[in-house]
Amino acid sequence: MRKFAVVAALGFCAAFLLKAQEGGAPPALGPGGRMSPAAQAAHAAAAERGRTIFMQDCAACHGEDATGGRGPDLIRSALVRHDRNGDLIGPVVMDGRPDKGMPAFPFTVAQVSDLVAFIDSQLTLFDLHTRFGPYPNDIPASRLATGSVEAGKAFFYGPGGCSNCHSPTGDLAGIANKYNPPELETRFLYPSGTPSTVTVTLPSGEQVSGTLILNDGFYVALQDKDGWYHSWPRSGLKDVQAHDPLAAHEALLDKYTDADMHNIFTYLETLK
Ligand code: HEC
Ligand code: HEC
Repeated sequence: MRKFAVVAALGFCAAFLLKAQEGGAPPALGPGGRMSPAAQAAHAAAAERGRTIFMQDCAACHGEDATGGRGPDLIRSALVRHDRNGDLIGPVVMDGRPDKGMPAFPFTVAQVSDLVAFIDSQLTLFDLHTRFGPYPNDIPASRLATGSVEAGKAFFYGPGGCSNCHSPTGDLAGIANKYNPPELETRFLYPSGTPSTVTVTLPSGEQVSGTLILNDGFYVALQDKDGWYHSWPRSGLKDVQAHDPLAAHEALLDKYTDADMHNIFTYLETLK
């Protein structure tokens, strides 16, 4: 709550104008195109409601601050940046992209509007706190590729074990063209998009399998092959078997030294 008060007080409100609640009157404009205090308060309240929905239904994949995890970073998403009043976010949320791991949510227009207000408030906070401005993606490779190509290659084929799963002439061919430098760095450190799978066994013995969405000790949620979202309290399930194809990457995060990370990145940058 406090964060939103600060944002509102700073008057970073022009962007909020674009996010008027659907179905309601657009917020009243003050001098200089700012939202009136009442409109600011309404936006902050919508963002708080949206936060509750986001934590419950989105954070498991997109991260609590919307910077991504299993699902993409929404803060740096071009789609999110171009959204106006939920016109782009709304369809993605309501229809999902089941084939790409984004489930559909049967929300009301008001709920989508609250979610959009929350995401918008996260964008504003992020932009306030970053020196790069909204798109930090223009950092040149030369600023990041400061390691040794040879050492990176040696790590790739040696202690990193990368070559057990990847090949520079196979799946990683041209990877440096596919992603800009900051994206490439994020991709090899925190690859996403290959979700875990899970099979749960219900008390009846029936088994349901799908893409793992949440398994936090209290709840287990999955998306089945037809795109439907299922969730259960963990305590009501007989068994839960999850498999994470990216477990090796998580383990690597504990293993890398700073030098390893720079060397690998510098090596991957040569795969053009
Ligand atoms: C099971 C994991 C999962 C959950 C839960 C989830 N998402 Fe997603 N979301 C994804 C994935 C994966 C994509 C990328 C789909 C693709 O590649 O097109 C995505 C894409 C999106 C996009 C489009 C981003 C872009 O740049 O194209 C938006 C917006 C979005 N999600 C919002 C939400 C919101 C809001 C919620 C909660 C109501 C939510 N998602 C819940 C996994 C999830
Ligand atoms: C046990 C197998 C395994 C190991 C070991 C492994 N990876 Fe991965 N890696 C994966 C999987 C699975 C993905 C996700 C598939 C994908 O996104 O293409 C992935 C994704 C990636 C990506 C993103 C690819 C893309 O197209 O977005 C990069 C880059 C990468 N790994 C680099 C590395 C490097 C460098 C190492 C060693 C330091 C390494 N990986 C070790 C399995 C592995």
